[in-house]
Amino acid sequence: MKVLITGGAGFIGANFVHSTVEAYPNADVTVLDKLTYAGNPDSIKGLDRVELVVGDIADPDTVDPLVAQSDLVVNFAAESHNDNSLKDPSPFIRTNIEGTFQLLEACRRHGTRFHHISTDEVYGDLAIGEDRKFEPGDPYIPSSPYSSSKGASDLLVRAWVRSFGVEATISNCSNNYGPFQHIEKFIPRTITNLIDGVRPRVYGTGEQVRDWIHVRDHNTAVWDIINKGRIGETYLIGANGEKNNLEVTQMILQEFGREPSDFDHVNDRPGHDQRYAIDNSKLVIETGWEPEFKNFAAGLHDTVEWYKANEPWWRAQKETVEAKYAKSGQ
Ligand code: NAD
Ligand code: TYD
Repeated sequence: MKVLITGGAGFIGANFVHSTVEAYPNADVTVLDKLTYAGNPDSIKGLDRVELVVGDIADPDTVDPLVAQSDLVVNFAAESHNDNSLKDPSPFIRTNIEGTFQLLEACRRHGTRFHHISTDEVYGDLAIGEDRKFEPGDPYIPSSPYSSSKGASDLLVRAWVRSFGVEATISNCSNNYGPFQHIEKFIPRTITNLIDGVRPRVYGTGEQVRDWIHVRDHNTAVWDIINKGRIGETYLIGANGEKNNLEVTQMILQEFGREPSDFDHVNDRPGHDQRYAIDNSKLVIETGWEPEFKNFAAGLHDTVEWYKANEPWWRAQKETVEAKYAKSGQ
């Protein structure tokens, strides 16, 4: 089996490359990654049966021969950070929309199976305390340039299934945590701040809720959808991990033996989504998927240990990331 993993030098993609090599000894993996600021080839260094091609999913001449030689394409490549999309949306439009279009066109030409990785953020947000979770058929009402570009990419996938018979599935997952996540994101930023003795930064009140899932659980669900999901369907991936940002900050503070009040409230994100929560019943019923990491505190502890043990992996980025946040008072 030849698998093309786009964005495989990023956070979730790199973890997917590792788990694919472990779980599928018959798989040859090609990673297509542009190596933007978010891609790190060290995340997949030294793996057997993995080839890295540096290139852009929005470039048809790069994409076509790679799709032609593949049995399966799994698309993780994206601009993925809301805060960046609020400062400059243009790379989000090119990579997330144009890039998905080029991959779909190549899959159409070559009859290649496609799985598209998306986000629950396409559904907008829920109210804090509301007794409701996102369901696969909910309307798309994205809030940010990031989530709207992901929503657009999902709609392209659906149309290519219906109009051209492309064999595709879509998964929309909640917030991931675990090793290899870029330190601009909330959990690794907070951990690496504390490694440096710096107080964590909480946007606004910190009452916003995210539905945390370990990246390895996201990826086992993706493989279950590829193997058992129905073509043309959308599956929501989540592991019942709702926590607000204050709770997460305080759990990380505890890992460092710091006081629960040892953080700063900073400027809120414009248009900040209040709550995400996933109803995973379609995924569970149709594929039998179950998460392995059911204890968030234990998964978080392992993640803190990973960032402590892998400082060379993230250190070079820290100053630039913090300088960018300082400009927006965050
Ligand atoms: P990431 O930013 O860590 O990695 C993205 C990768 O894509 C990087 O390696 C980058 O170099 C590569 N890339 C960017 N533009 C490219 C292009 N034009 N061509 C080829 N490669 C390109 O992102 P992530 O957190 O690993 O997210 C992966 C996917 O999962 C995204 O589609 C994201 O929307 C989705 N997702 C993420 C989360 C989360 O919590 N991180 C949750 C749900 C869904
Ligand atoms: P983030 O990791 O950017 O993911 P997303 O925007 O996809 O949910 O942020 C997670 C939550 O943490 C979000 O509510 C914004 C908040 N946040 C902070 O409070 N402080 C920070 O330093 C960062 C980066 C995010």
